[in-house]
Amino acid sequence: MRTIIINIGTLAGILPKGVLRLDGREMDKVGSLENAYLTIEDGLIAGFGPMAELHGNPSAVAHDCTLRDKGEEVIDACGGWVLPCFCDSHTHLVYAGCRDGEFRDKIAGLSYEEIAARGGGILNSADLLHNTSEDELYSQSMERVREIMGMGTGAVEIKSGYGLRTEDELKMLRVIRRIKETSPLTVRATFLGAHAVGREYVGRQDEYVRLVCDEMLPAVAAEGLADYVDVFCDKGFFTVEQTAMILGRAAEYGLRPKIHANELEISGGVQVGVEHGALSVDHLERTGEKEIEALRGSGTMPTMLPGCSFFLGLPYGNARGYVASGLPVALASDYNPGSSPSGDMRFVMALGCIRMRLTPEQAFNACTLNSAYAMGVSDVLGSITEGKKANLIVTRPLPSLAFITYCHHTPFIGKVIIEGKCVMCNAL
Ligand code: NIG
Ligand code: FE
Repeated sequence: MRTIIINIGTLAGILPKGVLRLDGREMDKVGSLENAYLTIEDGLIAGFGPMAELHGNPSAVAHDCTLRDKGEEVIDACGGWVLPCFCDSHTHLVYAGCRDGEFRDKIAGLSYEEIAARGGGILNSADLLHNTSEDELYSQSMERVREIMGMGTGAVEIKSGYGLRTEDELKMLRVIRRIKETSPLTVRATFLGAHAVGREYVGRQDEYVRLVCDEMLPAVAAEGLADYVDVFCDKGFFTVEQTAMILGRAAEYGLRPKIHANELEISGGVQVGVEHGALSVDHLERTGEKEIEALRGSGTMPTMLPGCSFFLGLPYGNARGYVASGLPVALASDYNPGSSPSGDMRFVMALGCIRMRLTPEQAFNACTLNSAYAMGVSDVLGSITEGKKANLIVTRPLPSLAFITYCHHTPFIGKVIIEGKCVMCNAL
């Protein structure tokens, strides 16, 4: 099946083959082409170029149905933009119910740590999940999958971590597998048994870590349920030593780390992550020179989650400092019921500009190619490149790339195309 998108006002996010991430000042540019067409074959980007090069008179193409007669589908972008879909490399979107009660506590003045210390927070979600069937969990989670797809996300990483018991962690991961199998999105699964100490183990943290290492990890690996492993390495959660132990065991099963680090304090999580070859270290609301040094020359993507800073009133990560130091930066939503109840990557990109002072180009690259890298899919996603998956956002005509984040809630999506198929179509 061949599809051609014609009359593209601006085709943005163009990169040559083989670029897997953009470091430092490489993030300043977004490759683009005006008045373009793009062809899709078997779900992949087959080619693109200027409309003027399309056979015959380009303005006639849409009307004379020549292409349609040849069995090609024609999409007229009517001067709108075509962008690669967002890649959301850090979410917890499989969860049961919500935590709107804690939202009231938060408004009343309790911090994230205070809510957790009262037995709320992640443990509250674990209780809800325990009492929810796998089918129900799947159907609640699929609503969120459809929601983010409609907002232009084409790939998503999803973590476990609201189970905290072996059976419940497996339940979450099986739901993630089912999402992988049934949704058009590219999905990566991360085992996050060490998200918090399960209720039964409160006060016996080392025993819980042994449970993660000796029971959960082998069970997860036996069913092949995870692509990556994660640990919440932070104040009040897991120490650097416990993190190192879990990452060491996970490596035996071939699971590469993606780490929660430095959300609540400078935790050493960046260093332990880099030492264990982490694909990404995430959050980084608090970091200093030592973290920048640790990341230099590594294969680890620093990933910031501005939706979490926004919701919890935490500092925003020093994304500009990272870019100035020559490091790459990715942005992700952290979609979860406790610290970031939104999977809107356009809002993440806008916060990247408005609160972190990234340029629109840097924020765009952080939400596309670099976030694709942070979930291990930048060889097939994250840019307009021949041979990559045709995961595309078609917008209404826009004055500039900056408009996307400047007028951050003005509806701009006309269509979302995933692997060549239109999954969402708006009348704009
Ligand atoms: O990334 N910080 C740890 N985990 C999540 C929050 C989980 C929750 O509160 O439910 C996060 O912010
Ligand atoms: Fe998270």
